Amino acid sequence: MPTINKRELTEVLSSSQKKYKPSKKIISQANVKNYEAVLKEAARNPEKFWEEAAQDLEWFKPWDKVLDASKKPFFKWFTGAKCNLAYNALDRHIGTKTEKNKAIIWEDEAGRTRQYAYLELYQEVNKLVNALRGIGAKKGDRIAIYMPNIPEIAFAMLACAKIGAIHSVVYAGFSAAALADRIKDARAKILFTADGSFRRGKVINLKEIADSAVKSCKTIKKVIVAKNNNEKVKFNKSKDIWYKDFVKGQPTEAKCARMDSEDPAFVLYTSGTTSKPKGVVHAHGGYPVGVLRTIKWVFDLKGDEIFWCTADPGWITGHSYIIYGPLLAGVTTLMYEGVPDMPAPDRMWRIIEKYKVNVLYTAPTLIRAMMKYGAKWPAKHKMPSLRILGSVGEPINPSAWKWYYKYIGKNRCPIMDTWWQTETGMNMITPLPTAPLKPGSAVKPFPGIIADVVDKKGKRAPAGKGGYLIIRNPWPSMIRTIYKNPKRYIKTYWSKVKGAYFTGDVAFRDKDGYFWIQGRTDDVLKIAGHRIGTAEVESSFVSHKSVVEAGVIGVPDPIKGEVIKAFIILKQGINPSDNLKQELKMQVRKTIGPIAVIKDIDFVDKLPKTRSGKIMRRVLKAKELGLPLGDTSSLV
Ligand code: WT7
Repeated sequence: MPTINKRELTEVLSSSQKKYKPSKKIISQANVKNYEAVLKEAARNPEKFWEEAAQDLEWFKPWDKVLDASKKPFFKWFTGAKCNLAYNALDRHIGTKTEKNKAIIWEDEAGRTRQYAYLELYQEVNKLVNALRGIGAKKGDRIAIYMPNIPEIAFAMLACAKIGAIHSVVYAGFSAAALADRIKDARAKILFTADGSFRRGKVINLKEIADSAVKSCKTIKKVIVAKNNNEKVKFNKSKDIWYKDFVKGQPTEAKCARMDSEDPAFVLYTSGTTSKPKGVVHAHGGYPVGVLRTIKWVFDLKGDEIFWCTADPGWITGHSYIIYGPLLAGVTTLMYEGVPDMPAPDRMWRIIEKYKVNVLYTAPTLIRAMMKYGAKWPAKHKMPSLRILGSVGEPINPSAWKWYYKYIGKNRCPIMDTWWQTETGMNMITPLPTAPLKPGSAVKPFPGIIADVVDKKGKRAPAGKGGYLIIRNPWPSMIRTIYKNPKRYIKTYWSKVKGAYFTGDVAFRDKDGYFWIQGRTDDVLKIAGHRIGTAEVESSFVSHKSVVEAGVIGVPDPIKGEVIKAFIILKQGINPSDNLKQELKMQVRKTIGPIAVIKDIDFVDKLPKTRSGKIMRRVLKAKELGLPLGDTSSLV
């Protein structure tokens, strides 16, 4: 349990705990007013619920069947239907009054801004669609995107979806090696990148990283480079082209590919329990149904509002709630490329005041960092535009929740603590704005979702007792498979508890049926909300010439939630030193990226192992934190 301490847990479990009730104003504005009734109705017939939700989108041809479970767990949604994700996010708004709405407001750390109305975004995307078709890109091709949080990343994702190519966005904080792995797994033909980006005023030379990845990727035929900070970059004349030149002179209209509702729209790689990341596949038809329904109901958006999700488009949060969700809903998405404390710790509050942001969706790690700077920073700004707040990525501890509620929401804005995953595509366990809230609880499953907390045999855990969090029924925006690895899909998600989707998280339910998510049960870490596999970090250490073996665990951190501690066995004759520690830390940074921060390294002679030779990270962790060792019968 990384972020809720014992005292806070006792407090949240006591029956006298105060619930935060929504104000009359929140209730009267809400898109969904009768929360409990809607939950009950959807639970009675989830398929009917999702079929109704699908009516909010446009379909080229309607479905024959809402859900086809004949090949479960390879569920199919809206079978027989023809549609397109980009059409629903963009083309559908053209010719309506939404076309004049702002689609994107962008600002970067240095204060540069750009804005695009829906019609302008549509034309940008069409130019890119035509240019891509011009080089032979087509339905089913894989296109990798390694870009900072700039408007071109949205253009690229939407253009891929519009031609039916499968985009694979790789977070720009990943290293060249990590990018190359992902390009190879998907056999991507085209890569989008940028010359560079800024972080704390420092230039990050993305093109150079991309070049070093492409060197080992034979499938990449074209590299399209957006100019973001006028960095001098090396160009490989046979492959590279500036974005601006690529789209120059292209017509602003383009035909949209008619996709089957089950055709893959994108793959997004995420960490699992092995050293190889999983390519999570999402589909054209079902994905937008779940994303649109959640963004409208959880964040309660109205037509002309401004939504700011502080994630990066390189993660699922960015896919669903920076790019696709806000556009499906026809609202304005705010993209901020930079850190939250530059030039001063009030940057976020300044942005909210400047653009009159209505809904803010951010992460506990960020809230805790802002808390540390103090309430005097938000107090400098007027934020009456804020209506709803959101949290995502890891459990939010009650004290951070209360700070967020008081100093950012001014006791007026309900906090939507949304639990979900790359695999689920959409918010799964979350309140709606009209629900009474308890700080630290993600409240209840979204309408149409049936979640449970169970023991190993699938038996429901009693109130207050921890267990595995599972989802009992399929939902439209669910993962369809792991790219080129259907066996791993079945093994990871559908074989741990019979007939149910296994989330990998532990949780408990309280007497009111509220869910409390406690963290992962598997070997996945959450570092500042970023998902990293222990096995990935270990294999990175082991690839260093001085290392024989490595065991990696997450240890609690007051701001990041969790940080990485490593236990390393060195080769014979290699002497431990601080220099070597530094070198090893750099090795991980180089092979994974700056998100994998190593807090500490211990050099050891032995690692606790099972008889079959698996490292028992649980034992390492218990020892590190001074906790009981638990069952050690398999320990040698
Ligand atoms: C894991 C999924 C999709 C959101 C971004 C992360 C943890 C996510 C919460 C929350 C407690 C949460 C879980 C989950 N998580 N949101 N509100 N409360 N834990 O996506 O990288 O796929 O990670 O993040 O452990 O399994 P992801």
